[in-house]
Amino acid sequence: MTDTKKSIHGEWSSRFAFILAATGSAVGLGNIWKFPYITGENGGGAFVIVYLLCVLLIGVPIMMAETMLGRRSRQNPINTMITLADEAGADKNWHYLGWMGLIAGFLILSYYSVIAGWASAYVLKALTGSFFGADAITIKALFDDFMASPMQLAFWHSLFMLATMLVVVRGVNTGLEKAVRFLMPSLFILLILMVAYAMTFDDYYDRGIKFLFTPDFSKLTGNGVLTAMGHAFFTLSLGMGAIMIYGSYLPKNVSIAKTVYLIAGTDTVVALLAGIAIFPIVFAAGLEPAAGPGLIFQTLPIAFGNMTGGWLFGILFFVMLVFAALSSSISLIEPAVAWLVENKDMSRKQACIWSGSITWLLGFGTIFSFNLWSEFKIFDKTVFQLLDYLTANLMLPIGGFCIAVFAGWIMKQQHTEHELDMPNALSYQIWQILIRYVAPSAVFLVFLHVVGVL
Ligand code: TRP
Repeated sequence: MTDTKKSIHGEWSSRFAFILAATGSAVGLGNIWKFPYITGENGGGAFVIVYLLCVLLIGVPIMMAETMLGRRSRQNPINTMITLADEAGADKNWHYLGWMGLIAGFLILSYYSVIAGWASAYVLKALTGSFFGADAITIKALFDDFMASPMQLAFWHSLFMLATMLVVVRGVNTGLEKAVRFLMPSLFILLILMVAYAMTFDDYYDRGIKFLFTPDFSKLTGNGVLTAMGHAFFTLSLGMGAIMIYGSYLPKNVSIAKTVYLIAGTDTVVALLAGIAIFPIVFAAGLEPAAGPGLIFQTLPIAFGNMTGGWLFGILFFVMLVFAALSSSISLIEPAVAWLVENKDMSRKQACIWSGSITWLLGFGTIFSFNLWSEFKIFDKTVFQLLDYLTANLMLPIGGFCIAVFAGWIMKQQHTEHELDMPNALSYQIWQILIRYVAPSAVFLVFLHVVGVL
């Protein structure tokens, strides 16, 4: 394999562009919508600690591995696995890993887009002053009414899918780069403002911060541990080829390790800031931390409705959230689009229309989970809950496990060493221990624990 090989889809203009795109992919609804509500459902502190450990010991080394695989082959995840398995003299079946990733991307985006649709709808609600002076009960009623309307949910989901397709048609390294450059820092500043606001509450420390950071392991179940681990994959966009495809557009001379630290660090800080901003409001408003997927939509509007400048902050916040979701959603569909272009000879436009339409249709399963089908359960879960569980808790960790095994045991050491180009031998050794032993066995043990063997 030559060092001059490039992806047919182009390349990021710089290291910074890759950092922005990968951070854009990582930071999204996972950090601001999902992290707070699953933390609330799983009792707080202990869950947060397990999540942080998973990011550090499993997420970071696997993110390096996934980026590396993509950059070495410069193709979509399926072809990457074929090429690299071939190079290592390994079994052809490794390409099923790419397939699982493609399917996981469709499934995740199908519900991701519905939730991003909620955020888009809330831009309009903020704009028209729906939160003004509202208390917790009014805000909850507003949310419940919205959930009860499949038409409205479908409208916003369609709009968001359309936006995703429009960006992806242009190619990830044109339209996207520019938008993310400006939006990521703005979201960050706004979150800090929300944290500052949360700190004005009397008992913000005693209830908000303590809930997040004081571990009580008796509150953490086996499934809670699985959710924390699954979320480490979800929030870093790992295990399905998104980071692999972004890695395939990464210029040769960029240090993968340093870049990954930066991306994972930013992602974690954003999630923690969201938690710090949200829980004081949850407790002050007398809400349940375990309110579920509606948590941020039932809490933040109370703050926007009652703080000075809340009208403007509310609009800005939801706009930013939509853009954070957009820069994530495109990475969920890009592997499929790249595959259709490379292997099925489609134009980018055709590929976007195909994959976008399939995802759009699948999205109705999630839409109906909140109204028409709310009583329809498989394994005691609605369609939305099932999709979430299947992807975040099962497919991504399984994908990550396989990536770790492939990078640690199948690829030739001289290749991984060359491709990662760590600053020193020790860093490489640490990575190798994590990717060979720690990450795969951690995933395995958590699975054993959940099925009750351990
Ligand atoms: N990481 C994103 C978030 O936290 C979601 C996401 C984007 C994702 N691409 C992914 C999750 C790939 C899993 C796999 O919102």
